[in-house]
Amino acid sequence: MTDYRIALIPGDGIGGEVMDAAWPVLQTLADRHGFGLDGEWLPWSCEYYLKHNEMMPADGVEQLRRFDGIYLGAVGLPATVPDHVSLRGLLLAIRQGLDLSVNERPHRLLAGVTGPLRTAEPFDILCVRENTEGEYSGAGGRVHHGGDREVAVETSIFTRVGVERVLRYGFEQARRRRCKLASVTKSNAQRHSMVFWDEITREVAKDYPDVEVTAYHVDAIAARMITHPQSLDVVVASNLFGDILTDIGAAIQGGLGFAASANINPRGTGPGMFEPVHGSAPDIMGRGLANPLATLWAGALMLRHLGETAAADALLAAIEQVTAAGQGTPDMGGELSTQALAEAVRAAL
Ligand code: NAI
Ligand code: MG
Repeated sequence: MTDYRIALIPGDGIGGEVMDAAWPVLQTLADRHGFGLDGEWLPWSCEYYLKHNEMMPADGVEQLRRFDGIYLGAVGLPATVPDHVSLRGLLLAIRQGLDLSVNERPHRLLAGVTGPLRTAEPFDILCVRENTEGEYSGAGGRVHHGGDREVAVETSIFTRVGVERVLRYGFEQARRRRCKLASVTKSNAQRHSMVFWDEITREVAKDYPDVEVTAYHVDAIAARMITHPQSLDVVVASNLFGDILTDIGAAIQGGLGFAASANINPRGTGPGMFEPVHGSAPDIMGRGLANPLATLWAGALMLRHLGETAAADALLAAIEQVTAAGQGTPDMGGELSTQALAEAVRAAL
C-alpha cells in the first residue's frame, strides 16, 4: 500500500475550519481506494508569528521537503499581523522556496450551482499562473521615507526559464483538454517583459502544433471571461495577471467558496501545495459558515497530482452530487454548516 505523507497547514481564520472538515473526507477516500494518507499538522500561522516572531521556523521549507504533498487552509489575520508580513513569511516563502512555479486553478460551474452570469452555456477554464517571479518577485525598495521625494520601486522580473516552464506546462495541459491555449500579456504597453513573453509563447508553440494558441491582452481576456467564458480552455498568465484573472474565474464559478488551487513544481523535485483560493475570511470565522468545497476540490487536485486519479475523480463526483442536490453552506444559499457540508460529501462517496 502506498502511504503518502501530507503536511497539513490550517493557517488562520476559516483555514482551520475548512481543513478540519475536509481532511476526514480525504481519509475516507484513502481507505476506499487502498492508499494511506499520513497527515502531520503544522501550526504555522499568524498566532505562531505572535509567539515566535516568524510565520514558520527558519528551516520550514526544508521540513516541508520531506512530505509528498502540502494541504493548506488560508493564511492571514490583518488585525494581528500585517498581510504583507504573513503572506511573504509563509505562502510566498513556500512557493518560492519549493520552486512551485506553476499555480493551476480550475474554473467551472458545478452542477446545481448558479453563477452570476446569464449565459447557460457551460464553461471549463484552467488558469495556469506563473507563481514565483514576474510582478511578485519582491525586487525593489523605498527611499526617502516620508519626504515628498519618497520613491517606491517594484521591479517585475521575467526569466526565460520561468516564462518557458509555465508556458510549457500550459501547453501540456491543453493537450490533455481541448487543445486551446490563451497566452495573456499586455505587450502593447509593457514592451520589454511582455514582448519577451509573446516571443517565448511563439517559440514553445512550435513544439505543440496541435494546440491552437491565441495571444490576449489581459484587459481583453478579463472581459472575455465574463462575456464568452465557454470560448476559453487553458489560460496562461504571469503572477499578477493570473492572480487577478483567477478571481474573475472564482466569481463566475459561484464564488470563492468553490475556487481551488494547486501549486506545483513541474520538475517534480518536491511536494506540491494544494489550497483553496480564498483567504482566512475574518468576517465569518469561528461560526461554521465557511464553504469547505474549495478545500475539498483542492484535495482532489492533490490526489490527482499524487497519481490517485480514481480517488480524485470520485471526490469531484461526490462534491458535484451534493451541489446538484442543492445542499450547501449559506454562501451557496444553503443552510448547512462547514462540517455538515463536508459530511454530506463524505456520505456521497
Ligand atoms: P477572503 O478570501 O478571506 O474573503 C473574501 C470574502 O469571501 C469574505 O466576505 C469572506 O467571508 C468570503 N469567503 C471567503 N472564503 C469563503 C468560504 N470558504 N466560504 C464562504 N465565504 C467565503 O479575502 P480577504 O477578506 O481579502 O482576506 C482575509 C485574509 O486572508 C487577509 O489576511 C488576506 O491576506 C488573507 N488571504 C489569504 C489567502 C491565502 O491564504 N491563500 C488568499 C487571500 C487572502
Ligand atoms: Mg488573488
